[in-house]
Amino acid sequence: MEKINDQVLKELLMTFGPSGHEEKVRQFIENEIKDYVDEIQVDVLGNLIARKKGPGKKIMLAGHMDQIGFMVTYIDKNGFLRFTNIGGISPTISLSQRVIFNNGTIGVIGSEHLESAKDLKLDKMYIDIGATSKEEAEKLVEIGDVCGYHHDATIDDLKVISPSLDDRIGCYIMMETIKELKEVKNDLYFVFTVQEELGIRGAKTSAYRVEPEIGIAYDVTMTGDTPKARTMALKMGKGLAIKARDNSLITHPKLKEHLVNEAKKGNFPYQIEVLEFGGTDSGAIHLSKEGVPSGVISIPTRYIHSTCEMVSTKDVIDSVNYSLQVLNSDFPF
Ligand code: CO
Ligand code: ZN
Repeated sequence: MEKINDQVLKELLMTFGPSGHEEKVRQFIENEIKDYVDEIQVDVLGNLIARKKGPGKKIMLAGHMDQIGFMVTYIDKNGFLRFTNIGGISPTISLSQRVIFNNGTIGVIGSEHLESAKDLKLDKMYIDIGATSKEEAEKLVEIGDVCGYHHDATIDDLKVISPSLDDRIGCYIMMETIKELKEVKNDLYFVFTVQEELGIRGAKTSAYRVEPEIGIAYDVTMTGDTPKARTMALKMGKGLAIKARDNSLITHPKLKEHLVNEAKKGNFPYQIEVLEFGGTDSGAIHLSKEGVPSGVISIPTRYIHSTCEMVSTKDVIDSVNYSLQVLNSDFPF
C-alpha cells in the first residue's frame, strides 16, 4: 500500500461505536471486506470474524472496533445528563468536548462551578444537549444511552488526527491487509473485536471459538516523544512497534523474534514497545484454552483516549505492508 484511502479511514473513524454498541462499525467493516474473504461470521458478543483460507498456520489477528465513551445515568429537571464512563475517560480531556449519541444527538460536556481544577471529576460533570427541561431531553436521550467523542478527522501526508484511532486504526490496517493480500499462505482469521476498552472481553470469546495457533493484535500504544513526556522509547513516525510487554501480556519470545526478523528482512523501521500500563486483545488470546503464542503490532500514538489522538501516516502505511509480509511468512515454531 502506498497511500491511505482517506474516505474509508475517515468514515471508519467517524462511525459510532462505544463499547457494547459496535453494530455500525461492524456493518461498515463487513461491507468493506466481504468480497475479499472466504468466510465471515458474527459471534454472540458481536465480534466480526473474517477468514482468508490458507494451508499454513492458523493465525488470529485482532483489532478492537469499540471506542471509549459515556453512559447516561440520570437526567435532571433542567435537561442536563449525568453520566458514567465507558472505559478510560479523563475528566480534564472531556471538558468542553462534543459528544454524539447513536441517534445523532450532539451534546457538549460541562462542569459545575469548582473552586479548583483539581476538583474536576466525572461526577461534577454533565452533558448538555441543549434541552431546557427533563421532558425535552427525554425525547432524545434515555437513561442507559451511550455516546462518544464527536470530532472531525484530519488526514494528511504527515499524520492522522481523530478520536477513536484507538483502535479503528488497527481495524483499518487489518482491512487494508485483507484487501491487498493476494496469495494466502497461512489460515488467517481476522477478528474485529468488541468491548476491549472494558477489559478485553470480545477477544476472549472469539479466541475460544477460533482456537488459533498464533495470535497477533493490532492496537495503539503510547509514545515518549512530546515535550517532557513520561520516559518511553517510542516515537511517532519512527516505525511500527513490536510489543515486548504490557500489563496483559509478555509477547511470546519466539513470536517476538519472528516479528523482529521479518521487520529486518523487509527493511521496515521498527521499535520495541515496553508499555507500563494498559493491555490489549492479545492479553486474552494468549490465555485462551491451553495457551497461544501471542504478540502485538502497535502503532505509536500521541494523546491516546482524547478527541485528537495522533498517528503518523507513514507508520500506518508501513504497518499494512509489514502485515502483508508477516502474514505470508513461515512461522518457525
Ligand atoms: Co484504549
Ligand atoms: Zn485500544
